[in-house]
Amino acid sequence: MTQTITVIRGDGIGPEIMDATLQVLDALQVGLSYEFADAGLAALEKHGELLPVATLESIRRNRVALKSPLTTPVGEGFSSINVELRKRFDLYANVRPAQSFPNTRSRFPDGVDLITVRENTEGAYSAEGQQVSADGETATSITKTTRRGSERIVRYAFELARRTGRKKVTVVHKANILKSTSGLFLKTARAVAQEYTDIQCNELIVDNCCMQLVMKPEQFDVIVTTNLFGDIISDLCAGLVGGLGLAPGANIGTDAAIFEAVHGSAPDIAGKGIANPCALLLGAGQMLDHLGLVEQAARLRKAIVATLEAKDSLTPDLGGTGTTTTFAQAIAGRL
Ligand code: NAI
Ligand code: MG
Repeated sequence: MTQTITVIRGDGIGPEIMDATLQVLDALQVGLSYEFADAGLAALEKHGELLPVATLESIRRNRVALKSPLTTPVGEGFSSINVELRKRFDLYANVRPAQSFPNTRSRFPDGVDLITVRENTEGAYSAEGQQVSADGETATSITKTTRRGSERIVRYAFELARRTGRKKVTVVHKANILKSTSGLFLKTARAVAQEYTDIQCNELIVDNCCMQLVMKPEQFDVIVTTNLFGDIISDLCAGLVGGLGLAPGANIGTDAAIFEAVHGSAPDIAGKGIANPCALLLGAGQMLDHLGLVEQAARLRKAIVATLEAKDSLTPDLGGTGTTTTFAQAIAGRL
């Protein structure tokens, strides 16, 4: 049976890294078929809107999408398309692995192999109750945490740990100060943890967690946390392993999942053919895992590591002189 996925080529370097990624997926012979859909600037130019209904329908139908970065035009009336997609499909789990790769600018060449699982729909980003007083002196907003939202994200983290043979889940919170919201998250997490006696569970207050990540990142395995903390921590972790060029991310819900690179559309290098396709390729690897194509996903990651190790055709951001295409060809040749 052929699985169809929605492919969004995106803006800026998006089309370049997507073409390279699809070329590698084809070489992997995973038997996927692609349904192309537009979003972002490309969609605005073609269809007059950033997120056409046809694109939403395609994702709804296929349930899995691979997405290049999108440019959100600056100015009134344009809300972030990525946030919109998360809302539309209730993509509650943001899953971001951070792993040290050879010959990259990681501060910890051997030490880091962790996954941040961030709650993606509520918390400080619930966007509720945004108010500024009439005199402009006071601003308020609502941080909303629910038991349901907390339970499903913590459960997701434990299930992920179990499925991937990881040993430990660290619950990151600030329940000592944010007693109601972070308190409910922590209390719910403790209850869920009791169901997973095979996985070690510990708790860390978010500020201490940041220090520990910088000092001793090797102690972490899976981190689960609320929206705002997860946003910041996952970027910190990308920094630990050498930055954006190798950081993939998945947005996962019950009915749909969208896989992407963490970086943006890089307008400064768009059209030059030198963008690093690794982050999107690693996102495609997460997608293969999600589709149950675990062996192919492992093969893909191995080929990426071997190519980095050999310093074969690396793009300029990794210190090489390769192009997006030659780098992708070097990876495809090692599958
Ligand atoms: P950016 O991630 O696009 O670029 C930051 C720097 O990293 C630039 O110097 C860029 O050249 C470099 N870079 C990024 N990806 C690279 C790659 N694959 N290979 C080599 N170098 C790479 O962030 P920026 O400039 O803040 O945002 C540009 C646009 O991207 C904005 O319109 C923003 O809204 C959008 N964006 C979209 C995201 C998404 O769709 N998921 C995420 C972040 C930003
Ligand atoms: Mg962020």
